[in-house]
Amino acid sequence: MNNTGNDAGVTGLLVDEHKIVLARLMAFETALDAFDLEQIHATIRFFDEQVVLHRRKEEEVLFPAMKKHLGTEDGPIQCMLAEHQDEQEKIRKIRSLLEGNPGPTSRSAIVKAGRYILDLLRIHIVKEDNILFPIAESVLTDEEKKEVLARMKAIGFCNTECGG
Ligand SMILES: [Fe+2]
Repeated sequence: MNNTGNDAGVTGLLVDEHKIVLARLMAFETALDAFDLEQIHATIRFFDEQVVLHRRKEEEVLFPAMKKHLGTEDGPIQCMLAEHQDEQEKIRKIRSLLEGNPGPTSRSAIVKAGRYILDLLRIHIVKEDNILFPIAESVLTDEEKKEVLARMKAIGFCNTECGG
């Protein structure tokens, strides 16, 4: 329960975005299995154009608001940030391997990094949805929730076909 007047709470919007990300990851998995270059490029575009906005909502808005209550010591937020870094590093790697016409070695490195991202993000999303976001719902005040929600909505996400 929350008192924001929004049944989805302050994190419902992020949970909804996670569903969109998970759907894209399924398409990515199929693309990696078939080495469908067009779809692999589409996934990287999705990360560059959409996931970046999702991550900004968490890193620039939600996490700093939570830190006021949880402190900045090692904890779930640090863990999520480290996983965001890991994700971005692998996306960068795939982007650079895609340059030119990737040969067999680059292709297998792309598939390896892609599968790493699939495993990382699927588990990451479970952790955020089930551990981190419930913490946010319980520690943030109603005022903070209103402000966080307004600032997250201002960042935007997926008003296009989500990189498909
Ligand atoms: Fe997230």
